Amino acid sequence: MASRKILVTSALPYANGSIHLGHLVEYIQTDIWVRFQKMRGHEVHYVCADDTHGTAIMLRAEQEGISPEALISRVWEEHRADFAGFGVGFDNFHSTHSGETRALAEDIYLRLKDRGLIAVRPVEQFYDPMKAMFLPDRFIKGQCPKCNSKDQYGDNCEVCGATYAPTDLVEPYSVVSGAKPELRTSEHHFFALSDPQCREFLEHWTQADDHLQEEARNKIREWFDQGLGDWDISRDAPYFGFEIPGAPGKYFYVWLDAPIGYLGSFQNLAQRTGLDFEAWARPGPGVEMVHFIGKDILYFHALFWPAMLRFAGYRTPHRVFAHGFLTVDGQKMSKSRGTFITAGSYLSEGLDPEWLRYYYAAKLNATMEDIDLSLGDFVARVNSDLVGKYINIASRSAGFITRLFEARLSAHPDRPSVLERLLDPATWDLVGQLYEAREFSKAVREIMALTDLANQYVDAQKPWELAKQEGERERLHQVCSASLNLFWLLSVYLRPILPRVSAEAATLLGLGAEQMAWGQTQALGAQPIRPYRHLLTRVDPKQVEALVEANRPTMQPAAVANTTAARAAKPQEKTAVEAPPASTSSTITIDDFNKVELRVARIVSATHVDGAEKLLRLELDLGGERRQVFAGIKSAYDPAVLEGRLTVMVANLQPRKMRFGESQGMVLAASGEGPGIFLLAPDDGAQPGMRVK
Ligand code: 2FM
Ligand code: ZN
Repeated sequence: MASRKILVTSALPYANGSIHLGHLVEYIQTDIWVRFQKMRGHEVHYVCADDTHGTAIMLRAEQEGISPEALISRVWEEHRADFAGFGVGFDNFHSTHSGETRALAEDIYLRLKDRGLIAVRPVEQFYDPMKAMFLPDRFIKGQCPKCNSKDQYGDNCEVCGATYAPTDLVEPYSVVSGAKPELRTSEHHFFALSDPQCREFLEHWTQADDHLQEEARNKIREWFDQGLGDWDISRDAPYFGFEIPGAPGKYFYVWLDAPIGYLGSFQNLAQRTGLDFEAWARPGPGVEMVHFIGKDILYFHALFWPAMLRFAGYRTPHRVFAHGFLTVDGQKMSKSRGTFITAGSYLSEGLDPEWLRYYYAAKLNATMEDIDLSLGDFVARVNSDLVGKYINIASRSAGFITRLFEARLSAHPDRPSVLERLLDPATWDLVGQLYEAREFSKAVREIMALTDLANQYVDAQKPWELAKQEGERERLHQVCSASLNLFWLLSVYLRPILPRVSAEAATLLGLGAEQMAWGQTQALGAQPIRPYRHLLTRVDPKQVEALVEANRPTMQPAAVANTTAARAAKPQEKTAVEAPPASTSSTITIDDFNKVELRVARIVSATHVDGAEKLLRLELDLGGERRQVFAGIKSAYDPAVLEGRLTVMVANLQPRKMRFGESQGMVLAASGEGPGIFLLAPDDGAQPGMRVK
């Protein structure tokens, strides 16, 4: 097959937040695809960058008392280390705050302008008179015009779900300063997407040549039906970004230069390595430009971006692959539950990145469906598939080769049928097509079915018994050599997913790059091997518990968590705008209340605590789960009368280490000015574990 030329990107992460497991779905998905293409011998360049511009980053730097440049360079280092830790093998990780991106953004803008596709017209927008700046929608709050809930953002209400313009808010205030915003008019620059030439191009591009997945095409049709408006691509100073040529005080909106950052990063790579940037970036056959993105940013990548490229004379994308979001244990990632897990904490808690790469691969497919990281399933699956099945094949055979056969494989290994299958071009094709189509879960299923067969072979041959039998020495050598051949081939099939383990397998077996390429059809001969060393450990469920614990907020969670924390829990924010902590208010929203997880609990036992004046130790049953809580109710209750009673507890309160042990929640009790503490109890019929709302 002729070698393909593929430029691959993953979405650029914002330079004001940490990489988390939600982001990693995309980077791991892309990286697996890229590694697979490279193994097949294609010329692939995988580039990314930090997305560094916008109001949120500007204000965040200000809050920290540093320059935006200092902030983005610190975050860049952190991101780079996180990606390297997870084996995400970018060929270049750059920044949108770069000379390349600036020059390309200016060029694209000026070419669009030359074609008459830039319109300038006044826009009326909220302005913060205290901060002297225009406010993005997310930096304005007020009362929802539909349901009157307080403290709702300027674009939609989190209580009733209504969407509206910030000017519809009742009693709006600036989240930045608290000031009452004023409406002011300023000139904005627009990309004229409503121009018939854009519309015509996009109608064709979005529906043709498999540029988009079927579900994405359908979504786009709905957007077309709603009508394509012009896109506002400018923001007024003060703004951290690139000033628009010929328009002093006007800056490119962060979403204009973000995708241009793909090309900026690639150009930086091209300059360093002597690649022909023009040949890759200009229209023409022979190059595929492939973008991996989350489904929330499809609008930008399937409409704005191809149109910008087309009308500025650049190559348009060959494919835009959108994926779904990550849920953890079936729910949105949550800071208070500790499931908003950062990449950095995963690495520093000592979990193996290849466990997660494998688990994600086992879940990923080519659709935009969400994928779930079920923590229990993660432990079970990694331990049973990777360690119990795959690694086991090597660990049961390598020792015999080292000890009894001078660390050399047999020139005539046994040829069980599973070995023939693994060497068969039809198997490489089958699994290869699944990788190509991003049907990784199906690829993993095929590979694991072959791994099962390989284990059945070892089980049936029982090398450990052959080793005890007279006259079976040659057979033992052949069987163990066949096993290590099986292990080698499985390592090649799994290599896009497990770069570290497969590289160590290659070292163990003394293999070079050629023998780790896709499509091996010859078994290994009398190959010398190195002493076996365990390549992958089992996951201990305690490591996962510690990881969740490390990601719980250190401040009081739930009821008092600020709105920023709650919003950040949404994987992949649509805009670069991240509001700073909300001002305090005497009321809370229903969403704030919902963050408190109240549950019915049965008091299984209540005991005095040695040395504690006011506390009783309660053991609570939450419908299967047990919790220990220290409650200050000793003055009001004899422990004996509490046992068996139902009460209500805060189930997601951060555990507190006390002198007597850990308190894992809080029971609710009423008290007033006078004496007495009165434990809450649900009505008859409530069951332990029920949610109280
Ligand atoms: O949604 C996001 O996280 C954006 N930073 C993605 C930008 S992707 C590309 F357009 F640069
Ligand atoms: Zn509302």
